[in-house]
Amino acid sequence: MPNPPDLAALLESPLQRDRDAGSMQRQLHERLKRAILDGSLAPGSRLPGSRALAEALAISRNTVTAAYEHLAAEGYVQPDRQGTRVTELSPPALPRRTGKSAGMPATALRLATIKPGTVFTEPDATFRPGVPALSHFPAAAWRRALDRAIRTASPATLGYGDPLGEPQLRAAIARHLAIARGVRCTPRQVVIAEGAQEAISLCVRLLSNPGDIGWIEDPGYRGAKSAMRAGDMHMVPIRVDAEGLCANADDWQKHPPRLIYTTPSHQYPAGAVLSIARRLALIAEARRHGAWIIEDDYDSEFRHTGEPIGAMQGLVPDAPVLYVGTFSKTMFPSLRLGFMVLPEPLMAAVEAPLHEMLRGGHRHEQLAMADFIESGQFSRHLGRMRRLYRDRQQALRLALARHLKVPHEIDGGYCGLHLTVRLPPRFDDRQIATDALRHHLAPAALSGFAVAPQPTDNGLVLGYGNTSAERFEPLVKRLSQLARAAELGGI
Ligand SMILES: Cc1ncc(COP(=O)(O)O)c(C=O)c1O
Repeated sequence: MPNPPDLAALLESPLQRDRDAGSMQRQLHERLKRAILDGSLAPGSRLPGSRALAEALAISRNTVTAAYEHLAAEGYVQPDRQGTRVTELSPPALPRRTGKSAGMPATALRLATIKPGTVFTEPDATFRPGVPALSHFPAAAWRRALDRAIRTASPATLGYGDPLGEPQLRAAIARHLAIARGVRCTPRQVVIAEGAQEAISLCVRLLSNPGDIGWIEDPGYRGAKSAMRAGDMHMVPIRVDAEGLCANADDWQKHPPRLIYTTPSHQYPAGAVLSIARRLALIAEARRHGAWIIEDDYDSEFRHTGEPIGAMQGLVPDAPVLYVGTFSKTMFPSLRLGFMVLPEPLMAAVEAPLHEMLRGGHRHEQLAMADFIESGQFSRHLGRMRRLYRDRQQALRLALARHLKVPHEIDGGYCGLHLTVRLPPRFDDRQIATDALRHHLAPAALSGFAVAPQPTDNGLVLGYGNTSAERFEPLVKRLSQLARAAELGGI
């Protein structure tokens, strides 16, 4: 049996008598607990008698007894007939006293495949792609919708709810998508998720096995790549051109995919619209190869030129397409509400596992969102924002024409909130993006979206959603200076 511990070593410094340090009992309990966990009080050793310890520390015996009782209740010590003994804790609970920190167990290998990006916590950095006009959001109307949802919902609404989402919202989305996007679905096929990102991750988890091939647009959306990597998929980049995702016979033969991620209405970030010929071919080949298509329709509600282009999902009956949408652009990103529409037979197969994988929640926001759509406020808000973004895009194009004094071409802009400005390869787009941050500008480097960058993947992705039109002239002048400064072999 180990001897009673040396009290001086155990209590390296005297207990504090000031209030901030906490009660004597709490301090003593904390010190003894730490000593047990770090091994200075060996398993099986005896604690000093309460009287002796109280005298040594000049505190009351009751204080010591209470601290011992607290330790005993937590299982650190065990009282017996001879006093109080330190419990024999299993070795893993006791870190080795090597003098160095014991280190953490290993993380998953797949983490190393997920590329770090720039994390922006400040949404208002100008040109940051994908940020809607935050100050134009009808906050008062949204607050009223939330108030109504909280006032009228029964106490039962405080429970988890349907894991696939509030039935009212699923029905409102199904109706809205049929009119606005030509999506064919019943409310049962709609699953609510925490934004498009969770919806894409769910598609990967529901439809792929580790090592399966996933096609990704190149250049393409980083969030989709991360979702595939986190799902242990083998990611194959497929080039995009002026007609969008450009898969050839070789790609189908050499890398037959299980999943294909695409942004057909407004390729992210390069801006192409997937042509009807390619849409039909993609659906036909996907069927032939037993592949699923994830259609990310992230910003097509804001169509700026020509007739609206319907979703791929509704193009032909029973297409193997999972339609993904989000309220991050149409409402605001922190709402974290998105959705996916699953083909009917797929829903039948995954509904039960989804019930186990998801927990519902955010019910009042979902009910408020359903109310917002059904009352017509959502459509009115979209109409106002469409006009605003159209004006902002025009102002940005004008400013680029006048003030971007380096050779460039502009892509995209049929819909959404960003333009892509291609630059000749001698202008280092990553350098421009890094330098721009010092001026509170956050354009994204086009090359940063490519897995296998080509010389043409060089330029800047400019978000215009959250910047008022009159600010573009001076901002583009600044960008122009930054671009010239980043010219390789410069001027
Ligand atoms: C291509 C694309 N898909 C989806 C999203 C939206 O994701 P979430 O709904 O998770 O905010 C974005 C946001 O920038 C995007 O660029």
